[in-house]
Amino acid sequence: MNELDKKSLENAKKLFSTGDINNVEVGTIKGLQQIHKYLFDNLYEFAGVIRKENISKGNFRFANSLYLEDMIKKIETMSETTLDEIIDKYVEMNIAHPFLEGNGRSTRIWLDLILKKNLNKIVNWQNIDKKLYLQAMERSPINTLEIKTLVENNLTDDFSLDTFFKGIETSYYYETEEYY
Ligand SMILES: Nc1ncnc2c1ncn2[C@@H]1O[C@H](COP(=O)(O)OP(=O)(O)OP(=O)(O)O)[C@@H](O)[C@H]1O
Ligand SMILES: [Mg+2]
Repeated sequence: MNELDKKSLENAKKLFSTGDINNVEVGTIKGLQQIHKYLFDNLYEFAGVIRKENISKGNFRFANSLYLEDMIKKIETMSETTLDEIIDKYVEMNIAHPFLEGNGRSTRIWLDLILKKNLNKIVNWQNIDKKLYLQAMERSPINTLEIKTLVENNLTDDFSLDTFFKGIETSYYYETEEYY
């Protein structure tokens, strides 16, 4: 892990240990921007800022920046009642990929806040294998079944700081190669 990511990991832990996480709006782009800003403040000049460029990863090109803001407004209105709906929303936000870098790490925290608020559960990321997670996310724009199964089988109602810390560490470990 490089120095930037180490500092960002510390920021992510602080978000929870300080209780600042309680000031984050749930399920909105504002909340996601708050998380991204907190994680990458002074590390990326675009911390918390919606991208104006087009980006891709592997064989997938994320939403065109031309309509990214409109798309995000629609995603915000998506329902969060069931696990199915929540993962649908998470998958759409991943397809939007609002930031130039750091989407995965911020959006996983955003997902946990939605799950906690609506289902009183969070993802037990420490139990989700990196390769299986990335495969499921690569597949998700076509079919959400894999990521839904993975999350459904790894939910917990243990909200201890230790669980959040282990989850964040796992999430940072998922971080992979750069964009094209
Ligand atoms: N081919 C793909 N198609 C769709 N989504 C993908 C693909 N590859 C990765 N993803 C998703 O995008 C995330 C990576 O986005 P990004 O690099 O902006 O975030 P990060 O926080 O820097 O990295 P990471 O999520 O790996 O920690 C992955 O975690 C995964 O959720
Ligand atoms: Mg990345």
